[in-house]
Amino acid sequence: MSSLKKTPILMMATAVAAALSVSAAAMGDKPPVSADNGVSQVQSTPAMAGTFAKAPDAAIPPLAPLGPPPIPLDNPMSEAKTELGKLLFFDPRLGGDASVSCATCHEPEQGWSWAEDFSRGYPGTVHWRGNQTIINAAYYKKLFWAGSVPSLEAQAPAAAKGGVAGNGENDLMEARLRLIPGYVERFNEVFGEPRPSIGNAWKAIAAYQRTLVQRDTPLDKYLLGDSSALTEQQVSGKALFEGKGRCILCHNGALASNESYYNIGVPRAERWLEDGLAQITFRFQYYGKGATEELYRTVKDDVGLYFRNKNKWDKGKFRVPSLRYISFTAPYMRQGQFYTLEDVIDFYDRGGFDEEGNTTSYPKTKTPLITKLNLSDEEKEDLLAFLEAFTGEEITVVKPRLPGYKPLFTLVELEAAQAAK
Ligand code: HEC
Ligand code: HEC
Repeated sequence: MSSLKKTPILMMATAVAAALSVSAAAMGDKPPVSADNGVSQVQSTPAMAGTFAKAPDAAIPPLAPLGPPPIPLDNPMSEAKTELGKLLFFDPRLGGDASVSCATCHEPEQGWSWAEDFSRGYPGTVHWRGNQTIINAAYYKKLFWAGSVPSLEAQAPAAAKGGVAGNGENDLMEARLRLIPGYVERFNEVFGEPRPSIGNAWKAIAAYQRTLVQRDTPLDKYLLGDSSALTEQQVSGKALFEGKGRCILCHNGALASNESYYNIGVPRAERWLEDGLAQITFRFQYYGKGATEELYRTVKDDVGLYFRNKNKWDKGKFRVPSLRYISFTAPYMRQGQFYTLEDVIDFYDRGGFDEEGNTTSYPKTKTPLITKLNLSDEEKEDLLAFLEAFTGEEITVVKPRLPGYKPLFTLVELEAAQAAK
């Protein structure tokens, strides 16, 4: 409570939330009874409004400077490990046909992401979601648009093996590493193992990604006390972000994400209606994730969190993304529905509708936190200017030279061995 008293803007945002008295009907279907699906109960159920009204101090953390990322106890950092992880991140031999590395899709020059609506896929496929940047991924408790994996260590194999991503096979990828003396030496040094094991490759890649963080932004500087770090326009935009624009309700705390899941009204990707290759992936994902035949046939859209728990009240909900590094990661939303931040702001201003008036395929689960904002043109410009303050310098990298294969033996050695028999 006391911290709220000191920050009138937050009180305002809390009041906005508290004022929303939402009926169960407005939220669609029944609320979950158990809290344990990785979803914050505070904002994902009809109980939400009541929760806010009774306990405003449990709500809305203010924007804050970002600290160093958490490091798991079972994967401590070292320079040798992050150097190894960097090599592996750029190495296409950790994939099916040795042509696609993590960095192929998370292209450093495209915001460590992929600048199209759907990510590129494994050769011969297209992905079904827009790519996410890996800058600051180290801070999330759950990864991917619908939060389906719990750690960077678990995410790396999901990517390297996924049918429309790396499409690699564990034994084959491991065998490749073992025939690369440069890796044999490094795995030995870092993990004390005589031959590289694939599980440690994922650990090294995870450690490398924990070095890809950006904490030095105009917003961080401002929040740390440098009042000149934001322009006057950005300061006005910040007030809109925390007040009339209501962005703070979800994009809050140091990460600018409360890591909860919402359906904010983003319409489906039209590409699924037009592009055969995209339809193949769509079908593959639907069945792979255990959605029903009926759902596949009737709704041509991404059901998000529903894929994980099959709760109908979670249809079309996605993890709130961080807004950090956002200037480099267009297009925006889970299937790149919007190409510019101006379009995103207009979408929110209309209460979660695109310019043709389209909204989510699951209107029953659309959150009541998204409503028409009535921002003036000037207010939209101020908000846009503020969104830019979440991004600092572009993070660039010199792509590493990868170590080469060495056969176990050469023909000359084989012949010499046979002659000696
Ligand atoms: C074929 C393209 C492709 C490849 C290869 C690929 N990724 Fe991704 N990556 C994506 C897409 C698309 C998403 C979002 C997927 C989703 O939400 O379903 C993603 C998401 C992620 C995320 C989650 C970020 C967040 O905000 O939650 C991380 C971390 C990540 N990838 C790391 C990796 C690593 C490490 C590798 C290599 C082992 C890799 N990726 C290989 C396309 C790719
Ligand atoms: C009710 C919670 C909520 C509120 C309020 C909210 N957002 Fe979001 N935001 C989300 C979610 C969830 C997504 C991802 C949705 C999707 O892809 O379907 C998102 C996505 C975004 C993205 C795209 C990020 C990316 O990486 O693609 C931007 C930019 C953004 N929001 C800015 C804003 C701004 C500006 C406001 C205030 C005008 C705002 N948001 C209000 C929940 C919210």
